[in-house]
Amino acid sequence: MKTIREFADAKAAGRKIVMVTAYDAWSARLLAAAPVDCLLVGDSVMMTLYGDRDTLGATTEIMATHTRLVARQAPDKLIVADMPFLAVRKGNAYALDCAAELLRAGAHAVKAEGVRGHADVLHHLVESGIPVMGHLGLTPQSVHALGGYKVQAKEPAEAAQLRADAATLQNAGCFSLVLECVPAPLAQSVTAGLKIATIGIGAGADCDGQVLVLHDLLGLNPDFKPKFVRRFADTATVMKDGVAAYTEAVRAGTFPNEKESFR
Ligand code: KIV
Repeated sequence: MKTIREFADAKAAGRKIVMVTAYDAWSARLLAAAPVDCLLVGDSVMMTLYGDRDTLGATTEIMATHTRLVARQAPDKLIVADMPFLAVRKGNAYALDCAAELLRAGAHAVKAEGVRGHADVLHHLVESGIPVMGHLGLTPQSVHALGGYKVQAKEPAEAAQLRADAATLQNAGCFSLVLECVPAPLAQSVTAGLKIATIGIGAGADCDGQVLVLHDLLGLNPDFKPKFVRRFADTATVMKDGVAAYTEAVRAGTFPNEKESFR
């Protein structure tokens, strides 16, 4: 995918959209050659790369830095960057400055969590020419208000609120919407009721696309395996075995060998 307009085409054609997170140069270089549609410079970078317990430490500067690293190495990929904690709650000018930094760093669109109380700000970004992806359900920037990382909108009233929020995002001009950790039947009906594409994470198979954190799908964190993650590779074991083999070769005096040495 080259532009956000292809999200609507993919939805209309029933072609699943594949999004994955990317935060750094080396993984972006590898993902540049992968068949995924879209890279998300998520504020989950705070947890995966910085080792924080949540995403709240992300700033515009941090998000712009990681966006730049990714954009340089994956120039042909569509890149969405997360608006950091509270960036859409401080009014139009603040949100616009933040989004401008992310687009200058190489993003093609921004993603913002929630909608209640800041639909007008999202609309202002869209009207200013900045494509916006929404994010509902488990919105990690609200982890303390939500009481932890858990499935959302299980009760009928919460499900009705989520449907209304999704419609508000669509009306605000968002081109797409992440649904995180919501019951699959709800995600299915929200997806069916919207013109814009939904991207699920922990939201079942009926969304218009899926997103996963790269480190989770590659199995880089052996201690983290929520129900909705599938490990498509066991990279932690590959790394552990590789480093152990290197250590053994150095200690045995077999690395470097003649071919790996200069004369
Ligand atoms: O920051 C992130 O990685 C995200 C995805 C989990 C959707 O927002």
